[in-house]
Amino acid sequence: MHENVFIMDHPLIQHKLSILRDERTGSKQFRELISEIAMLMCYESTRDLPTREVETKTPITVAKTRVLAGRKMAFVPILRAGLGMVDGVLSLIPAAKVGHIGMYRDPETHKPIDYYCKLPADLNERDVFVLDPMLATGGSAIDAVTRIKEFSPKRIKFMCIIAAPEGVKAFTEAHPDVPVYCAGLDECLNEHCYIVPGLGDAGDRIFGTK
Ligand code: PRP
Ligand code: URA
Repeated sequence: MHENVFIMDHPLIQHKLSILRDERTGSKQFRELISEIAMLMCYESTRDLPTREVETKTPITVAKTRVLAGRKMAFVPILRAGLGMVDGVLSLIPAAKVGHIGMYRDPETHKPIDYYCKLPADLNERDVFVLDPMLATGGSAIDAVTRIKEFSPKRIKFMCIIAAPEGVKAFTEAHPDVPVYCAGLDECLNEHCYIVPGLGDAGDRIFGTK
């Protein structure tokens, strides 16, 4: 496994992922689970954020405490399914800005087609978390990160919920400098480039479109 790939197999994440995969899980619960898993992954993947010491007056005395060292953040979901992860990560980091990249896979070629991009103007001052629940062939994530790099952010991390080995390989070859955080590394892709065992079509399950 590439040194920049981190599998977040915390028991709470694995439990929620198991329900997420279940074909009987409806859209309401599916949305809630995606959001909760994204929040837990955000907690884990921000471990390396720098902090600085401040003085805080408690009701008892003055204490030396630590706060985040003014790091500016941005979350960039890949539409549509990445939208499902935004609420969860914003619940931990409400001051972050949010950009959007719109992409869908051509059903025949499975290549990503981009249709929208709106990113915070000051992205060069920010750490960016790119969000998409599924890393299948890797095409969408690779193109999204390539686009984001044009804005020279300070750092980029990619956060997905399920990854296929094919996608991890392609992504880490294209962007070896971008850490990948995922909750589950699955077996393979099928002939339609869906992740096996996966969870089906994430966008359709979040938005109830099938
Ligand atoms: C899904 C998913 C990723 C992409 C992953 O989006 O949310 O963006 O496929 O596949 P890849 O790694 O092979 O590029 P989809 O194309 O279904 O669009 P949608 O989210 O709008 O439904
Ligand atoms: N996109 C999805 O939503 N699911 C997959 O398994 C692959 C791509």
